[in-house]
Amino acid sequence: MQSTPISKSPYIINESLTGGSFENWLKSQSFTSLFILVDKHTHVSCLPYLSANNPILKTASILEISPGERSKSIEIAMDLWKSLLNKGADRQSILINLGGGVVGDLGGFVASVFMRGIRFVQIPTTLLAQVDASIGGKTGVNFHGIKNILGSFQQPEAVFADCNFLNSLPTRELVSGYAEIVKHALIAGGDVWNKIKNTNPLRVDDWSSIVTESILQKKAITDADFKESGYREVLNLGHTIAHALESLYFKKNKQLTHGEAVAAGICIESRLAVLLNILDENEFNQVQNYIHAHFTPVEYTANDLPELLDHIQKDKKNEQSNPAFSLLQGIGKVITRKTAAPELIIQALTDYAEFAY
Ligand SMILES: NC(=O)c1ccc[n+]([C@@H]2O[C@H](COP(=O)([O-])OP(=O)(O)OC[C@H]3O[C@@H](n4cnc5c(N)ncnc54)[C@H](O)[C@@H]3O)[C@@H](O)[C@H]2O)c1
Repeated sequence: MQSTPISKSPYIINESLTGGSFENWLKSQSFTSLFILVDKHTHVSCLPYLSANNPILKTASILEISPGERSKSIEIAMDLWKSLLNKGADRQSILINLGGGVVGDLGGFVASVFMRGIRFVQIPTTLLAQVDASIGGKTGVNFHGIKNILGSFQQPEAVFADCNFLNSLPTRELVSGYAEIVKHALIAGGDVWNKIKNTNPLRVDDWSSIVTESILQKKAITDADFKESGYREVLNLGHTIAHALESLYFKKNKQLTHGEAVAAGICIESRLAVLLNILDENEFNQVQNYIHAHFTPVEYTANDLPELLDHIQKDKKNEQSNPAFSLLQGIGKVITRKTAAPELIIQALTDYAEFAY
């Protein structure tokens, strides 16, 4: 089912921020004050480049948070609302979110609620935020141990993605974002997948065309179903298992990036699709071989399987506690809200572990 977008689609531009497009765009807006939200890393690695090339920002107030998922909380949102009030923000202020998905999700949420909503701009600085988190208007924070449980659908005024930011990004974060590019390519299929299938993320010199294509793929889907009433669920490919793996690692206090979990999730859910007789074994092998060649496997033991199953059964995308997967029916074709018996889910998790390590 497709629905009409209920929120305007933002102005999206993927080019260097040195060229004046951002400065000119800001000059075309009327505003009383500018705020830039950064985390400690983007303050050091990204803000100097943005400010040096856009003199209009010299009057902007800087708001800084600690890096990492723990900052995506209601407590940090409250600190930011207090700072905005103390620094005289009003309804004509604009908030610029300069950072990865954490800064973008948190800043978007803060802006969407402050004075019933002020304008905000996303300047994503990780590969993941450029191709995924900054596109589609989902904002939010984690609460009560549940990821993204408080939030809003609110489009930014604009998204400016500049691949120069990727130069300072740690390799592990770069590969993490690449998992979402792989996901978009599997959803699109055809030439898009053929191009990605022949790409090694560690050997890409210029990300611009790959990032632009991936942004457009996500944008086409989210524009068609802004509030996720159906079609947008194709983007959940790999994510039911990914969220369970993230929860397991979070509980064990072990490091796992979102992209590492998504890459494993795509593999495991594709295996599940084979077990459900909806995906051809040859296409599955293409997916499995590509993912194993470029992503670190996510390790778990047989003892972890009941907990993983429990997380899958509690996923917030489920209906009446039946796990609802978005699965590949073929490369370029995704079926949504597909249920599977627990034994098959365990089998898919076991098959992945046996193949991967
Ligand atoms: N809104 C959505 O639709 C959506 C979609 C996918 C993911 N997300 C959210 O995105 C978040 C993950 O985003 P992320 O992977 O970008 O993580 P992140 O924001 O935590 O950034 C990863 C790390 O890279 C650092 N960093 C960012 N840009 C840098 C740069 N250019 N140079 C050096 N270091 C840099 C950050 O400080 C951080 O330490 C999660 O909270 C997830 O829920 C949201």
